[in-house]
Amino acid sequence: MKTRITELFGIQHPIIQGGMHYVGYAQLAAAVSNAGGLGIITALTQRTPAALADEIRRCADMTDKPFGVNLTFLPSVTPPDYPGYIKAIVDGGVKVVETAGNNPQKWLPVLKEAGIKVIHKCTAVRHALKAQAIGCDAVSVDGFECGGHPGEDDVPNFILLPRAAGALSIPFVASGGMADGRSLVAALALGADGMNMGTRFIATREAPVHENVKQAIVAASELDTRLVMRPLRNTERVLANAAVERLLEKERSLGAELKFEDIADEVAGVYPRIMQQGDMDAGAWSCGMVAGLISDVPTVRELIDRIMAEAEGLIRQRLASMLGAT
Ligand SMILES: Cc1cc2nc3c(=O)[nH]c(=O)nc-3n(C[C@H](O)[C@H](O)[C@H](O)COP(=O)(O)O)c2cc1C
Repeated sequence: MKTRITELFGIQHPIIQGGMHYVGYAQLAAAVSNAGGLGIITALTQRTPAALADEIRRCADMTDKPFGVNLTFLPSVTPPDYPGYIKAIVDGGVKVVETAGNNPQKWLPVLKEAGIKVIHKCTAVRHALKAQAIGCDAVSVDGFECGGHPGEDDVPNFILLPRAAGALSIPFVASGGMADGRSLVAALALGADGMNMGTRFIATREAPVHENVKQAIVAASELDTRLVMRPLRNTERVLANAAVERLLEKERSLGAELKFEDIADEVAGVYPRIMQQGDMDAGAWSCGMVAGLISDVPTVRELIDRIMAEAEGLIRQRLASMLGAT
């Protein structure tokens, strides 16, 4: 399949694996890229720029296909060493950067100068337009369904994607709630040039996370996610668990008085315990409503091949036959 996204990134299928904290390691990114999509390493999961440089090398050893690095700009008192991470990306010969969390304008010149394509992930049409105006090559439009941070506007993809299609001239991918060939065809029909998946890629054999995490996704329905940190205007969609219920109870009881410190036990530094040790109640971890559509743990290649075969079948048979019948 050829779209503006496959052309832009030099990939076979219009499928991107979004950056994911403690999930987006070299082995997952390489598996996605080897299967014809665009795999993405998550920079901030690596403790230092030197560790990121090693991870990029590890990925390049496992694939000769293009892969990307996610740079998430977090609200933080002591920011990570972004210049160091960017140097590791540029020196590592990475071709694509996925930015997220905040306006990447400050970092664009150095990335563009190195010939790196930038896809900015955003949750609102106004932010997508801003990304286009400052020179991003593409955007990833993350609807309300998404795992992670859906923003504060709560606009689901059935509205957000056609709005983005009407407003943008650069290519964009649909993100949030994407799982299979149906998602891809729907995303294309709504005006996107491909799709970005997070949660679906965690439930794959190659995702380097504890088996409990994969099984939790398989067991979850579309009713099992919760929105946390809304009172802090830092909303995150997570899988319901004991820690999340405790966190939500604090949000209810403290109301407008809630501060980050009050919920730090449930959200700060919990990812290694969940993703690596499989301690599923250790804290809040991002998960999309799409968990309700996930019922197996295939290899990345099986997943991507299945998505493409299903998408092509839908277009050639189901949709074409409807036209033929008129
Ligand atoms: C466990 C997990 C961790 C994530 N971590 C990040 C991150 O560090 N940076 C980022 O930009 N997006 C992050 N995301 C968001 C994904 O890249 C992607 O946009 C999102 O998962 C899409 O929604 P979906 O889960 O419905 O596919 C994360 C998502 C999950 C599920």
